[in-house]
Parts: sequence; structure tokens; C-alpha cells
Amino acid sequence: MVNRQYLEMLGHKSVIRELSEYATARAKEIGAENIYDFSLGNPSVPAPEAFKEALIRITKETDPLQLHGYSPTVGNPVVKKRIADSLNRRFQMDYGPQHIFPVSGATGAIAHAVRAVSEPGEEVIVFAPFFPEYIPYINGTGAQIRIIPASFEDFQIRFDLLEEAISEKTAAVLVNSPNNPSGVVCSEKTLERLAALLRKKSAELGRNIFLISDEPYREIVFDHKTVPYPASFYEHTLTCYSFSKALSIPGERFGYVAVNPQAEHAEDLVAMFGQISRGIGHNCPSSLIQLAVSETLEETADLSVYETNMNLLYDCFKELGFEVIRPDGTFYIMPKALPEADGLSDSIAFCRKALQHDLVFVPADGFGAPGYFRVAYCVETQVVERAIPVLRRFVEEEYKGV
Ligand SMILES: Cc1ncc(COP(=O)(O)O)c(C=O)c1O
Repeated sequence: MVNRQYLEMLGHKSVIRELSEYATARAKEIGAENIYDFSLGNPSVPAPEAFKEALIRITKETDPLQLHGYSPTVGNPVVKKRIADSLNRRFQMDYGPQHIFPVSGATGAIAHAVRAVSEPGEEVIVFAPFFPEYIPYINGTGAQIRIIPASFEDFQIRFDLLEEAISEKTAAVLVNSPNNPSGVVCSEKTLERLAALLRKKSAELGRNIFLISDEPYREIVFDHKTVPYPASFYEHTLTCYSFSKALSIPGERFGYVAVNPQAEHAEDLVAMFGQISRGIGHNCPSSLIQLAVSETLEETADLSVYETNMNLLYDCFKELGFEVIRPDGTFYIMPKALPEADGLSDSIAFCRKALQHDLVFVPADGFGAPGYFRVAYCVETQVVERAIPVLRRFVEEEYKGV
């Protein structure tokens, strides 16, 4: 007999993956240059040369028994120290290596963070719009996801709803800035208010609510903006970072959890993550990747293409009359679908019609933003340039006169 829960999950495949598979199949039929695939958040620029050079140098120069041997469960101490030093310098924090847990990307980071601060049945609060994989990431731990509807005028937090939602069941609140799918960064004002509310509620409940901050897009920001660092606003913060997007190495599976040194049980949490790893069959990331990344911590891939693409798409959506918020970062933009004949936005109908023009957009209903759609512009700029006239034609043919 197989496990029923996982068997049932096969019936709820990710819409993003399905659309991406469709785009790949369609590209084989009509040629890759004729399909405009904006479905998947897969980086479109190569990892920096410095990363490749570090990989080669470390492989050549390190004793193979040491390099390819088991890494400590809670990570290579040299790597942990380099990550801590870099975070301290960039964000004026006070991390030691004992606060850093190397892990397999943000996915692994969230899996450990949620388990460490919740009991089965407790809630982790998430703000729409949100990355739909949070549902299996959180529910798979035994905790329950609780979704706070979006504030559609600015995609910051609806504090009235958050205040109502926090209860004795709340273990943690999860923020994602810059945000997938809206591209919006949590402002300092939002983080200050959030910290004040979490402190107040923690005092009322007599136990600390943790903040889990998912930051895989921290380095992808536009217009020279800076991204406020959530852990510097609230002491009980677990920062979940991934090198997938900024270094363009999603296949290498590497990130970390950084435990704020002021957090409750700050000195125990990394050791607890080690115990969680044993239970879920996670092993410390590859020693070679840990070392190579630790030598290129402050490098990024050439991320400029994302800002170029964002500007082209944002201007085009505005010109065509879409309601859309200019992203602060990431490689996503989330406009509202144009209204149908009944005057209402229907993102599923919109994306279905776009697909007939070989424009692959993802309805954002599953991201908690019904009526909106996500465009992942991690593609070459020439794809965006070729897509724009197709988008204009699609809107002209399907929505003019509606
Ligand atoms: C918001 C968000 N969190 C987490 C992840 C998982 O990233 P990783 O590749 O580091 O596991 C993604 C990936 O797209 C994401 O968009």
C-alpha cells in the first residue's frame, strides 16, 4: 500500500510546471523562436566566471579525501564563518558560524526553519501574493499554512487582517522580499510595523512568534534600491537564503538558514536543524559547492538583463492599459488581467487566450492573487523584444472593444 497523501498530491501538479512543459512541447512543434515562454523562474544568465574558477581551483588544489569526504551535518565551519562575516559586514549583524546552517537552497531552508519553530497543527502565516510551493513546504512539515489576503494597492502587508489572524496557534510568520510573484520589496515601514506587532502579540501569548524570511531574490533589485534586511528589525528571525537566483546556480542546490543571534534558542537552533536533517533525510550540501560559493559570496551573475526586461515589459503593459505595480526586484511582474465582456478580470481566460498567441503567462490565482497573472522575464532580452508586438496584437484582437 502506498501513502495516500502523496498519491493524491499527484492530482495537483504545479500549474507553473505544466505550462512550462507545454511551452517546451510547443517549441518543438513551431520552433523555439515562435513561443514566448514566461512561465518558469529559472535564471537565464550564466553563473559568474569567478564561481567556475573557484570550482576548478578547489578541485585541483584540495586533498581529494578531505574535499570529497563527509561534511559535518551542520556545515563546513570555514564556509559558515565566511557567510556570517559577509552578512555582518553587509547588514550590521552579529552572526557567528554557529548561527549559520548550510542547506540545499531556499526549499531546504524553509523545510528546516518551519520544523524548528512549530509543532504539528500550529500555523505559519503567509501573505498573498505568495509562492505556491509554500503550501507543500509548510503543510508537509505538519504545520498548517494560513494565508492573509493581499493588499492590492501596494502588495505590502494587510496589518488589520494579520492582527486578527494571529492566535495561540501561530508559530511563525513568513515574509518573502523581494516577492515572487509581485516583485515588490517589504518597506522599512512595513518591517517596523511587523516587528512591533509580533512583539506585542508574543507578549500577549506568552511565547515568541518567529519570523521566517525567505530571501532568494535579495540581490535582484532595480533602480539602485536597497532591500531592508528583515532580521535587523526583529530578533526572532530565521533568514532563509538561496544562491539559486543571484549566482544562477539553482541546480547546485545551495543556500543557508541564518539564525538571528538575539533569537530565542539562538545557540540551539543550528544543532536542532542538524537533528531535523536526520529525520527528513536531508544531507549537508556538496562540500565542493559550499567551498566554491564561500569564495564568491559577494559576486552575482550579471543580473542587469532582468532590469532591462522589466523596463520593457512594464512600459508595454502600462501603455496597453494594464493595472500593474512596477517591481522593485526579482524577475517577475504581476499585472491584472484585462477585463472580459462582463467587466471582470479572469486570469485563467486571459492566460488561455494568450496561449493561443503562444504567449505563456501563469494565472496568479494559485499565488493568492485571483484576476492577476505572473510573467517570469528571466529570458534573453530579444525574447521580450519579439514578444512585445505579439502581446500588442493579442490585446488588440482579444480585448479591444470588450
Ligand atoms: C519565493 C521563493 N522561495 C523559495 C524558492 C526555492 O528556491 P531554491 O531553488 O533555492 O530552493 C523559490 C524558487 O523559485 C522562490 O521563488
